[in-house]
Amino acid sequence: KATPPSTLVIFGGTGDLARRKLLPALAELTAAGSISPKTRIVGVATSPENTEASYRQLVAKSLVEADVPPEVAKALCQDCVHYQGLGDGSTAAYQALGERLLALEAEHDLPPRRAFYLALPTAALGKAVQGLTAAGLNADHSGGWTRVVLEKPFGTDLASAHALIDVLRNSFREEQIFRIDHYLGKETVQNLLAFRFGNSIFEALWNRDRIAAVEITVAEELGLGSRAGYYDKSGALRDMIQNHLTQLLTLVAMEVPPHIDADSVRYEKAKVLRSLAPLSKSDVVFGQYARNGELLGYHEEKDVPSDSSTETFAAVRCEIMNWRWRGVPFYLRSGKRMGRRLTRIGVQFKESPVCMFENEGVCEVNRNVLTMTLQPDPGFSLYMNVKEPGSGIMLDQFPLTFRHDEHFDDLPDAYETLLLDILRGDQTLFVHSDEVLRSWDVFDPVLTMNHTIHPYEAGTWGPQAANVFGIADQALMRDH
Ligand code: BG6
Repeated sequence: KATPPSTLVIFGGTGDLARRKLLPALAELTAAGSISPKTRIVGVATSPENTEASYRQLVAKSLVEADVPPEVAKALCQDCVHYQGLGDGSTAAYQALGERLLALEAEHDLPPRRAFYLALPTAALGKAVQGLTAAGLNADHSGGWTRVVLEKPFGTDLASAHALIDVLRNSFREEQIFRIDHYLGKETVQNLLAFRFGNSIFEALWNRDRIAAVEITVAEELGLGSRAGYYDKSGALRDMIQNHLTQLLTLVAMEVPPHIDADSVRYEKAKVLRSLAPLSKSDVVFGQYARNGELLGYHEEKDVPSDSSTETFAAVRCEIMNWRWRGVPFYLRSGKRMGRRLTRIGVQFKESPVCMFENEGVCEVNRNVLTMTLQPDPGFSLYMNVKEPGSGIMLDQFPLTFRHDEHFDDLPDAYETLLLDILRGDQTLFVHSDEVLRSWDVFDPVLTMNHTIHPYEAGTWGPQAANVFGIADQALMRDH
């Protein structure tokens, strides 16, 4: 059933996120009949040369550039797209935006259902929230709703995360705030919930008695691209570990919630974060990619200072100090310019207490491993020990495998899922302020630990130093 018509106001309406992700997702959702074709899209930007006509052209061009099929692009009717300049960002400019929204709602017979999507750099968020508030645009209206949407990073350390949360809290209630970690919108990440809570056979095994270690890897093949301005100040810990990988950890580790809804799921995730043990220096390994043949080293990338000590790889050993997980290491690792693109969760089960099959004194029984691959080839495999044919008992491991692409069509983009949930008002896949703070509680101290930055050759699996965690385990590198 399509969402009721509403108005989506995109700050940063001419920016990269809007052009590459939001507008294509809106076209797909409209074409699929998931959102009302009467939904109004209002692009907001500061540059003075834009007009409504030029913005409509930009939208059409963006859909072509994002390879949206023409029949899908057509669904996003030109007349539903509007533009509102924000000039100098003064209160008067925000008031003019408010008047424009009222006029559009009156003209198109829309209730005041408004989502303000702040597709802006972190530094600009506070000002936008204050501008909305000064013009009274933060308030809910009778017969409608007001929501505000923002993207990670939610602060660059604990103090700035607190400051951002305070700014938002002064203007919006938590139920109005949709914080996006786009990993939660990935179909395959939601499938983790289905895997755990739709297959109760695993629940009895999902604990410290049966699991030896959990490995969460987000490896990227790409390097920095043209993002030095942002990335060099950020690094892998802030860019990936504190948010995307930590979210994956919470989904793997959380208790069974009473329901799959926003309050229950987010409460359970926050509980995991509260149970994380403080990290010490020896729990963290940082790396930075170095030239390897044709592949540039980090220092050679455009706009990266030659003495930069930003980590492009981070591996962290976490422990969850609760009854279910105490003693089970959770290894998180992420890096740019690694061997290949791979997001995978590996669960290693404990060996049997006695080895029944030995060959020349060596135990033939390997740990069972469950791998859940989120991208690029989603699916999961459970590695089983199997007898090789012939006399005696020699074992080998083979996977029982499920692959998404053998059963389902292409998966929707994360932004399609998330935009739909914003318009429906479902916060299950959005990050609660408590999760943000609890995660920073754990990672903020790491920022000041003065880590050695270990070089690794571009196109490899990160620095040798990270192998102390045992996460060079070959199980992770398997095809499935
Ligand atoms: C973003 C990071 O949040 O996630 C990027 O800022 C990273 O550095 C990206 O490349 C990875 O997302 P995905 O969906 O390509 O795995």
